[in-house]
Amino acid sequence: MYREIKKKMYKSYKKFKGLVYIKIKTSTYDIPFIQENFKSNSIILDVGSGEGVLSFIFFLLGKGKNITCIDTDSNKISFIRESKLPMIGICNNILDFTSKHKYDLIILNDFLHHKTDEDITKIIKILGDYLAPNGVIYLKEFDKNDFYDYFYTFLWDSFLYPEDKLNFKNKSQWIEIFNKNKFELRYFKKYTSLWPASRSQFIFNKNV
Ligand SMILES: C[S@@+](CC[C@H](N)C(=O)[O-])C[C@H]1O[C@@H](n2cnc3c(N)ncnc32)[C@H](O)[C@@H]1O
Repeated sequence: MYREIKKKMYKSYKKFKGLVYIKIKTSTYDIPFIQENFKSNSIILDVGSGEGVLSFIFFLLGKGKNITCIDTDSNKISFIRESKLPMIGICNNILDFTSKHKYDLIILNDFLHHKTDEDITKIIKILGDYLAPNGVIYLKEFDKNDFYDYFYTFLWDSFLYPEDKLNFKNKSQWIEIFNKNKFELRYFKKYTSLWPASRSQFIFNKNV
């Protein structure tokens, strides 16, 4: 089954030139976690989605039936639209996002460490307003205390996003900033893989 999913992904993304091959490889490590921890047919918002690699995996696993990807990078959003991927692509800044929908699941994959604490706080607050009752945030991030995560991510991100002020955190710092903004940790897992990438997986619930 994993092989099938990978095959479909490579086919759908074959026109994309760049690092998508690595993204597909790293994202497929997520499959068991996604299978176990998320309900089927969710309404999903993928924030800082890039080309939507992770949310496409949710779709292929039957976990997302209505998926919106938002990213400021118009090339990535155009790619989603032109490739007719099963996601809606919105080119916008999440800080300016408005929607009449509520989402069962909001994905933040490899995104928040590109933001300052002030913006992270604003983003969590905005997302809190768009979460459906019982909705969750899936945060996938780097662990500052993990040398390989830190080292490789620092190198890649400094090269790919030279303008960004990288804001690495360890597990407890990620939990702390969500707690401060009225979210509580429901589940945490960290996997090991040959590709150092964002391997810390958090699921947060909104405190009611
Ligand atoms: C490291 S990439 C992660 C992409 C994707 N989540 C993935 O894992 O393939 C971070 C993405 O966030 C986008 N981004 C940065 N600031 C943003 C903002 N304020 N609103 C929406 N997207 C943003 C960037 O354009 C970039 O595509």
